[in-house]
Amino acid sequence: MGSRQFLFRTLYRLGFTPWDGHPLPTSLTNLIEGDQPLPPGKALDIGCGTGDNSIYLAGHGWQVTGVDYVARAVERARAKAAANGIDIRFEQADVTRLCEEGIGSGFDLIVDNGCLHGMNDEDRHDYVREVTAAAAPDARLLLVEFIPGSSFGVAGIEPSEVAQRFEPAWTLLASNAEPAMKRKGKDSGRYYLFARAS
Ligand SMILES: C[S@@+](CC[C@H](N)C(=O)[O-])C[C@H]1O[C@@H](n2cnc3c(N)ncnc32)[C@H](O)[C@@H]1O
Repeated sequence: MGSRQFLFRTLYRLGFTPWDGHPLPTSLTNLIEGDQPLPPGKALDIGCGTGDNSIYLAGHGWQVTGVDYVARAVERARAKAAANGIDIRFEQADVTRLCEEGIGSGFDLIVDNGCLHGMNDEDRHDYVREVTAAAAPDARLLLVEFIPGSSFGVAGIEPSEVAQRFEPAWTLLASNAEPAMKRKGKDSGRYYLFARAS
């Protein structure tokens, strides 16, 4: 187990999961319920934590798979979904090895709320390869990530790095400050909406 996985495992064990219970990203609710809502299909929630984004998507007709490499997070996500009477596939799996872990492919929407921004360079490289392989030909990818220096203990990721890592396999459709990530009135995170380039 890597040091970052160990850290997340410890945080879940201690119950120190400050991301839990935050409002859903506005970029996600706009994508699903806005002026031009995406038609429901197969969704993959990457680094799903205790499942709030997955549950939201399933509640709007999506067939959702949520993955997280911390067993306790996955157990809590399953319990939350069951309590809401919602059917979601939650798997304990590493995002950098989605294929090897049998998560499947053909996902129409891939969502990551706060996973990529904490990874090291090697994991980011593997993440892009795996996410791209899991995507349907016309998939959308929504990333919601802190920028560097905006959150204690999280490396963050520069917008230029996000574009450089995903293009040309993906085309950036939109990117802006993510309102749900405002901290003390300051923009701390951004969303990135990509389309899989054919
Ligand atoms: C900041 S939390 C966000 C959780 C969730 N997306 C949310 O919005 O509440 C990041 C999550 O990503 C998971 N994670 C980080 N790296 C991962 C990896 N390589 N594979 C799977 N999960 C990972 C962590 O265990 C943690 O649950």
